[in-house]
This record gives sequence, C-alpha cells and structure tokens, in this order.
Amino acid sequence: MTDTITLTRPDDWHLHLRDEAALASVLPHTARQFARAIVMPNLRPPVTTAAQAVAYRERILAALPEGSDFQPLMTMYLTDNTPVDEIKRAKAAGVVALKLYPAGATTNSDAGVTDLRKTYATLEAMQREGLLFLVHGEVTDADVDLFDREAVFVDRVMGPLRAAMPELKIVMEHLTTKEGVQYVAGGDRFTAATITPQHLLYNRNALFTGGLRPHYYCLPVLKREEHRQALLQAAASGSAKFFLGTDSAPHASVMKENSVCGAGCFTALSALELYAEAFEAIGALDKLDAFAGHHGPDFYGLPRNAGTVTLKREPWTLPEAVPFGDAQLKPLRGGDTLNWKLIA
Ligand code: NCD
Ligand code: ZN
Repeated sequence: MTDTITLTRPDDWHLHLRDEAALASVLPHTARQFARAIVMPNLRPPVTTAAQAVAYRERILAALPEGSDFQPLMTMYLTDNTPVDEIKRAKAAGVVALKLYPAGATTNSDAGVTDLRKTYATLEAMQREGLLFLVHGEVTDADVDLFDREAVFVDRVMGPLRAAMPELKIVMEHLTTKEGVQYVAGGDRFTAATITPQHLLYNRNALFTGGLRPHYYCLPVLKREEHRQALLQAAASGSAKFFLGTDSAPHASVMKENSVCGAGCFTALSALELYAEAFEAIGALDKLDAFAGHHGPDFYGLPRNAGTVTLKREPWTLPEAVPFGDAQLKPLRGGDTLNWKLIA
C-alpha cells in the first residue's frame, strides 16, 4: 500500500476567495495547499473591469501570510456590456480569463449574461488576445429541472458558442454530469474542464442523508451516482482535458444553516486530501499528479510549478469550524477523520 504521495506543486484552477476579513480568513488555507489559483470574480459588486481585477489582486497579495509565494491568477466577470476595449486592458493587466455566469445561475450572478450572443464581439477579442473563457455551464430557464441544467447547457449553448469562436480556449467549470464529460472528452484541444472534490466523492444522496445537509449544497448541485462515476473516470483517465478546480466557496455557517442556504462547499483546508481519497478509491492515485499539477498549467499556457508537495497516509481530524471574519465557517467533512494529510 502506498503511504506517501509526492505531487508536482499543484494549483487550484477554480477558487472563491471573497474579500476583506473573509478573504484574510480563507486565503492562508489555499496558500498552504496550492502555488497558484484562478480567483473567481463574483464579489459584490462583481469584478468587471481590469482596474478592479488589479485592485483585487493587490488586496489578495496584501492578505497573504508572511513569506508565502502564492500567486493569484485574476479573472473578470463577463456582463452583457463588457466593452471590447476592456479585453486589451485586461490582457495588459495580467488578467488571464473571463467568467461566464448565466444571469441568476448561482451566488452573486445577478449581473451575469442574459444572452451569450450579446457578448460575441467581446469573446472574439478574448480569442484574439488569448484570454480564456471560464464557463458556469448551466441554463437558468425556470422550466428546466435543476438537475438537468448542465446537460441542457451542453446541448443548447456549447455547439453555437464553439462554432462562433472556434479557437477560444473554454474551460467548463465544475463539471458535474456524464453529458458534460462526454462533451469535453470528445471536444477539440481548445476545450477543457475542472472537477471539484465534492463531485468526485459524493452523489446527490449526500444532500439528504439523515436530514437536509446544507454543507453539501453547491452549484451545480451534486448529481446521481452514474454522473459521479463518469467524473471519476474522466479525472483518472489521464486526459489532459480534465484538471483540478476545487470551487471552494466559503459561506458563513449562519448562511448555510439557514432557511435559505447559500450554495457552496468550503474545501480549501483539505482539498488535496479529498482528491487523494477520491483517486485512491478507484485505484488511480498514480493519476493524481498530472490532474493536480500538469494539465491545468498546460491548458492555460503557463509553466508547471517547480517543487513538490507530499501527502502522507496519516489520520487527522478536520476542524468542525474555522474563523471567517467575525463569523464561523464549516469545512465540508468538518469533524471527520481524513486518511491523507498534506505535510507542511
Ligand atoms: C459559488 C459561490 O459561492 O460563490 N457557489 C457554488 O456553489 N459553487 C458560486 C459558483 O461557483 O457557482
Ligand atoms: Zn465557483
């Protein structure tokens, strides 16, 4: 039995860091696990300009623990009105991608896109400048069942988008379905996807086991077991189209354990350990290194990190809660014993 795993120093290709005191609370956890992260722009108000992205990067760097070399990779939030000119400024400012939130799809998505065709001139500019397009791939039509929203998005939106922007690099974020896996696996070299730890470890039963479980609620929502199996196969296939993106999305416990529960699982404390558990369960630990440390930078056109991190088979108990500004934040699996431990 393998008792240590050495990985190329990994990155998180989908992360929510929030702002101000919340940012200061969660950032050290990610900076301990990852060298870089793609930072999502769904603040209130959202990060829609290059200048806002630069200012947000400064706040993140200022909140880093002493001595950390963690590097935030900045994104902007695409709206119906993102000017074409803004893309040149974004490129010059070091922004690497824009994020599509279909209006109303998830946390802080009210300013999201109402009709993708309105953004085509801007997407063309991104294609020209080499900025990536990160897609929250769910339709929001009220008549589409919540569990079908990704499959319907793949079916209705991806074909026309790809036809209009043949060389735009697209990442389907937090993939959750077999339809999504099939689309990405069968797609061209400009298409890839991130996969979260929770979608590899759990199916939708986890939301309802012994009662309603708010900390397992994220968007896109957990799906049936057949979808989880498809995601595991994709992650462990060795295909360079699939890579690590935690979608760690902190919400204060009072917001999660509420009559209306915010969507998001907080996994920053133990992301690598959770991925290791998922890969080990299907005998694919040897595939974790490339998934966590190679495929992401290769797709983004960035260098792989130098150095390694080590996971050890050593049981430890994940804290029930950690500070989150003035509030409390409960990690997914808080209070549970995990079998793998990231060694400092
Ligand atoms: C994210 C958040 O809380 O910002 N929530 C989530 O459930 N994943 C938003 C998102 O990525 O959809
Ligand atoms: Zn997210």
